[in-house]
Amino acid sequence: MEINGQTRLAGLIGNPVLYSQSPAMHNAAFRHLNLPMVYVAFTVEAERVPEAVAAVRALNMVGVNITVPHKEAVLPYLDQLDDSALQCGAVNTIVNRDGKLIGYNTDGLGFLDSLREAGFEPQDKDVVILGAGGSARAVAVALLAANVRSLTLINRTVAKAEKLAEVLGTPEKVHILPLRQHSAPEIKGADLVVNTLSVPFLSQGKWLLDLSAARGALFYDLRYGKMPSAFLDYAQTLGSPQVDGLGMLLHQGARAFSLFTGREAPVEVMRQALVPGP
Ligand code: ATR
Repeated sequence: MEINGQTRLAGLIGNPVLYSQSPAMHNAAFRHLNLPMVYVAFTVEAERVPEAVAAVRALNMVGVNITVPHKEAVLPYLDQLDDSALQCGAVNTIVNRDGKLIGYNTDGLGFLDSLREAGFEPQDKDVVILGAGGSARAVAVALLAANVRSLTLINRTVAKAEKLAEVLGTPEKVHILPLRQHSAPEIKGADLVVNTLSVPFLSQGKWLLDLSAARGALFYDLRYGKMPSAFLDYAQTLGSPQVDGLGMLLHQGARAFSLFTGREAPVEVMRQALVPGP
C-alpha cells in the first residue's frame, strides 16, 4: 500500500496492544478495497487517554478502536454516543465524522454475528453468562436485544451481577447465581453458555464450576488464542460443541471497519488476516 499525502490514519488505543490482530485485519481490508488508510496500534497509559482522544481529532484520523482497559475511560471525551455505546457503558469504536467524535460499541453485534455464523440463533433460547464485567454486559445487551428467553448471570461477586441485571432491565428474563464449584442445576437445559471470566476456567487442577447440567449447550469462550482454553476443554469433557472468541474479534472489527469507511467490510479478507493469537 502506497503511503502518501492523502493517506489517513486509523488505529487502536489500548494497553497492551503489542499482539493485537486488529492492525493485520484492518490493513488487509484497506488494501483489498484500495482505500488510502493505514491502521496502527498505540499503547496508551490510562492518564494519557484524554490526549490520545484529542489526537484523533487533531490528526484528523479516520477513527480508532478502543480496547482494554480504556473502553469506559474514553466516554467523557467524545461528542456523541451511539445507542450501542450507551447500552454497554463502553466504547470500542470511535469514528471521526468531520471533526465530531462519535462513540460506538460493536462488540455485542460482533458477538451475535459470530454466534449466527456458528449456526446458533439466539431468539427464545436460554443462555448462561459466566461473569458480570464489561464483556458480560456487551454480550448480555446483545442477547436480550436478540430476544433470548432467559439470561442467567453467574458471578463470583453477586452484587456485581445484581448491578448488571439492574442496568439490563427486563428482570423477568434475568436470573443470578453465585459462582461456586458445585453444580448449578438451575441451568439444566441451557442452550448456550458464554464464558467472559478474566481468569482461567481451571484453577489448581479444578474446574471453576460444574456446568454438567448444561451438557449439550453450545459453549462459547470470549477468549481466543493458540493456547487451548480450559473452558473449551471442559466443554469437550461434556461432549458439548464449542466456539472461541476469534469470530467475535473478526465481526466486531468488520462492523468497526464499516463505520470507519462507510463500506461493506470484506469479511473473508479480514478473516484470512487473523491467526489464533498467543
Ligand atoms: P471484562 O471487561 O473482560 O469483562 P472485567 O470487567 O474485569 O473484565 O470482568 C472480569 C470478570 O471475571 C468478572 O466477572 C470477575 O468477577 P467479579 O465480578 O467477582 O470480580 C471475574 N473474575 C475475575 N477474577 C476472578 C476470580 N479469581 N475468580 C472468579 N471470577 C473472577
